[in-house]
Amino acid sequence: PISSHLMASSAQPLRLIVLLLFTARVNTSPMLSSGCPDRCVCDDQLVVQCAGQHLTTFPVNLPLATRQLIISNNRIVELPPLALNYLSDLVYLDCSNNSLTEISESTFGNLRKLAYLDLSFNTLIHIEDRTFGPLVSLVMLRMTDNPGLSEMHQDAFVENAALQVLDVSRNNLTVVNITSLIALPALRSVGLSGNPWSCECDNEDLSHIDPSLLDSPHIIILKNGRRLGEVGIQLRTLCHQTLGSWDYLFFVVIGFVIFAAGTVSAWVMGVIMVLYERYIKKKDEQLDVDDEEESSETGHTSRARSDHGNGNLKTSQTV
Ligand SMILES: *[C@@H]1O[C@H](CO)[C@@H](O)[C@H](O)[C@H]1NC(C)=O
Ligand SMILES: *[C@@H]1O[C@H](CO)[C@@H](O)[C@H](O)[C@H]1NC(C)=O
Ligand SMILES: *[C@@H]1O[C@H](CO)[C@@H](O)[C@H](O)[C@H]1NC(C)=O
Repeated sequence: PISSHLMASSAQPLRLIVLLLFTARVNTSPMLSSGCPDRCVCDDQLVVQCAGQHLTTFPVNLPLATRQLIISNNRIVELPPLALNYLSDLVYLDCSNNSLTEISESTFGNLRKLAYLDLSFNTLIHIEDRTFGPLVSLVMLRMTDNPGLSEMHQDAFVENAALQVLDVSRNNLTVVNITSLIALPALRSVGLSGNPWSCECDNEDLSHIDPSLLDSPHIIILKNGRRLGEVGIQLRTLCHQTLGSWDYLFFVVIGFVIFAAGTVSAWVMGVIMVLYERYIKKKDEQLDVDDEEESSETGHTSRARSDHGNGNLKTSQTV
């Protein structure tokens, strides 16, 4: 086509130059290319496979019509919104095992067909409000094993009406808003294990949950009408595992306090009994001087016995 233009427009050199410049720009633009990125394999099923290629940046030259993009096992630090959002037919995106630290609302701005997203094994720190908002077709989100991921905004998934499976296992999360999870109409499975869940349980009121269902598989399947129950149970199980050692310490301290109080009160009662008996004996001595030897011997016996505590008080009294 360019050569025919060359013939036709030889009388209009300016127009030709403009046309050539435009064509050149289009060809070198990474966004609009139909080639295949370096170190990636592209097939005619519109799958682009770039796993484990030591990539440090998002691949350029991606075919516009890409439906599956696999960039796992690299060291990519950023998902550039502009490049990513040209891939409006993307259905499957695997970014696991990279060095991603940040995902924002604009990252996935145009991926309305994306159904599967994997962000596991990255270094994400927090997930903001409506991060996944544009992903209206998202069915499965895996976001496990981000050891520093400690904050997930309660409205992060609020627009993901198609979300069925959410796995946030093995992160650093302390709080999850169960109410906002329940509100997701299609959700049937949530993975929560391996997080240091806070048991101050401002998390949610878990008190009305049937404890006979206690079980903590890695991913729990939620059935209609039982969602809150099962999420709550898993949270509570995880909570109790975390707090176990503190519970034991509490019981040991309380046990010691009760033991100490019992011992002291027994000792005090023993002392009182001895003093009382001595007082009685003194009175006896005054009344009957002949019985002096016998009553002092009894005094020793009762003191020795009452030192042992409560149980012997009756004996000393009878003696
Ligand atoms: C992550 O990718 C590296 C290569 O970049 C690989 O050696 C390692 O096994 C991968 N880890 C996981 C958990 O897949
Ligand atoms: C996990 O979060 C706590 C604070 O909630 C922080 O002190 C700790 O360093 C975090 N762990 C990692 C691996 O980032
Ligand atoms: C959970 O999120 C909902 C709305 O997303 C909010 O109204 C509610 O206050 C949140 N609950 C907690 C305990 O933060």
